[in-house]
Amino acid sequence: MSVTTIIGAQWGDEGKGKLAHLLASDQDYVLRYQGGSNAGHTVISDGQTYKFNLMPSGMLIDGVRCILCDGVVVNPVTLCWEIENLRRLGHYRGELSVSRHAHLVLPFHKTQDLYFEEAKGKAAIGTTKQGIGPAYADKYFRVGLRAGDMLSPDFEERVKSLASRKNVLFGGYYGRDELDPDQVWAEVAPTVEILAPLVTDTIRLVRKAVAANARILMEGAQGTLLDIDYGTYPFVTSSHPISGGALLGTGLSWRDLERVVGVAKAYLTRVGAGPFPTEDQGTAGQTMARTGAEFGTVSGRPRRCGWLDLPLLRYASQLNGFTELAITKTDVLDEFDEIKVCMAYELDGQRLEWPDMDPDVLERCAPIYETLPGWRVRTSGIRQAQDLPPALVDYLALIARESGTPVKIVSVGADRNATIML
Ligand code: IMP
Repeated sequence: MSVTTIIGAQWGDEGKGKLAHLLASDQDYVLRYQGGSNAGHTVISDGQTYKFNLMPSGMLIDGVRCILCDGVVVNPVTLCWEIENLRRLGHYRGELSVSRHAHLVLPFHKTQDLYFEEAKGKAAIGTTKQGIGPAYADKYFRVGLRAGDMLSPDFEERVKSLASRKNVLFGGYYGRDELDPDQVWAEVAPTVEILAPLVTDTIRLVRKAVAANARILMEGAQGTLLDIDYGTYPFVTSSHPISGGALLGTGLSWRDLERVVGVAKAYLTRVGAGPFPTEDQGTAGQTMARTGAEFGTVSGRPRRCGWLDLPLLRYASQLNGFTELAITKTDVLDEFDEIKVCMAYELDGQRLEWPDMDPDVLERCAPIYETLPGWRVRTSGIRQAQDLPPALVDYLALIARESGTPVKIVSVGADRNATIML
């Protein structure tokens, strides 16, 4: 049995897509277990850059079976666009299945996301406006439509009926113009022919794969600190990116998990609002943003940048049960003479090694930094562990010691082969 899970240890954008694509090359299955098109995975393959929102990155690899499992929310319009685009480029190489239980993100969910955010004013979360929260809310409100509904002869009626109910909400609550259910249907209708053949009982597929000792890779989206329960609520996404979510979202059990790889940048970024104790709004943060090209893949928004936060990494390691860490984008720090790392926080005169995830409390936590010497060497061309500069080796050792998790992978650039296995 071989089940590997790739999980964001921070606020997303840690470089999971690149790693997933790398590890997927010898897998039989690649599964996504949560989130939807709020995710933006960048993969560089054969010199070409691909940006995936919904598709597992395994789709670029011949014969890999890729599954959008039960916990994912699927925007049929986005998925069809991604399928067609990949086909046009001649890179639709995997085999795609969609769980019949996966909830659908329909056009009015995006509208609702937009209205909710606008209505919140200054308290807005800064969502990706992809309709993720409203689709998950409908799921838990038990009114949502699922991919399996696409197979039903009255799917059109179901879509229009939900659109009409949203009208009541939009008109009465936000005083907004009415949605036209016919127009909503006109957007969704062409997707049915493309997606219906992919919709199936993926729990059965997954269980059969486990029974056959298949190699399975689970690809997390977003990151631990955006988890709906374990993140900085309400500045979170609406799903469970943590390893527990990988079980909830696929039909795998805890017995099946083997390798849980936590992916963390050598520094830290966040898109959208919410506390960020080590945020650096000065030149250091600006250098990270520029060198690391820190702009959201989905929204294009600039990402907030700051130093690595070990209390948050300890938290992520323990919640997820990481068996190893992959530290990415170390090359972004190449230019720095000194590197700061947050060892603990100070709050009301007390030293905290463990974060308090209440956003009001975390906002008041002052980082206690240790300053390390920078390595001042261009690392992006390094391919062997023994060539890594000693100051970087020391930095990785500190991360491993403080998080209680061995660092096994170092990524020194965007390219697939800019990856060093330790
Ligand atoms: P939502 O998932 O679109 O509802 O957005 C909720 C929060 O999660 C916002 O702060 C987003 O910026 C953040 N978020 C959602 N998806 C990602 C991602 O893939 N990377 C980084 N942040 C994300």
